[in-house]
Amino acid sequence: MRTKIVAGNWKMNPNRETAVALVKSIADLYAASAKDIRSTIVICPPFLYLSECKDLLKSTPLLHLGAQNCHTETKGAYTGEISAEMLASVGAEYIIIGHSERRLYFGEDAQFLNGKVKACLSAGLTPIFCCGESLKEREAKNHFEVVESQIKEALFGMSPVDFPKIILAYEPVWAIGTGLTATPEQAQEMHHFIRNLIGQQYGTDLAEKVAILYGGSCNAANANELFSQPDVDGGLIGGASLKAADFLAIINAATQNMK
Ligand code: PGA
Repeated sequence: MRTKIVAGNWKMNPNRETAVALVKSIADLYAASAKDIRSTIVICPPFLYLSECKDLLKSTPLLHLGAQNCHTETKGAYTGEISAEMLASVGAEYIIIGHSERRLYFGEDAQFLNGKVKACLSAGLTPIFCCGESLKEREAKNHFEVVESQIKEALFGMSPVDFPKIILAYEPVWAIGTGLTATPEQAQEMHHFIRNLIGQQYGTDLAEKVAILYGGSCNAANANELFSQPDVDGGLIGGASLKAADFLAIINAATQNMK
């Protein structure tokens, strides 16, 4: 059985004060129900607050810390960039790679993302690799093709030893921050497609081990239905991860769906 994973992507939202308040509320709510929680939880604050969040999470070691991006190189003349090693050194264990906002606004392509995934793995961190189609691509019925090429181009050069260290997140771009969630059937259809694709490349045993999260307007009201789908292994949560109670409700939905 695969563990369900819930990762909160805070994006460029909280200031220091709200980030600290949020991490404290999540840690308190988590501590109050920790004995019932079996899913893996990750919070991904902006870089700036990682160290402080890590300190605040000392008493809740099962709440993991992630970053929202990293560079491909370990160090050097890359003004403004942050390496996976640096993130590891402040306690991050996960890094979101290839979020559609990075692809769209920062022009990150498959080759660059491949380098980032490799950088995460060599720093001993877990990449959460995002893929997903735009509305135009779905309307043109190209969604499977688009997701297939995003995964193949960035990830299928990985060895069978490295590939299962990667978490995938299917995030249809039209559902991110829009309130338009994929239906549980649409999510399951794509997750099943992705698992099959991995199976064709690496074998079904390996494909069964890979976690595939859903992201895109996943919230306290729809998480249970989404997570009940056999190939949906949890969620990458944006807006709803900024409200501690909603995030905890999503975490509980993940635990409830761990059969
Ligand atoms: P959303 O964002 O939950 O606000 O739609 C998800 C994401 O971008 O990871």
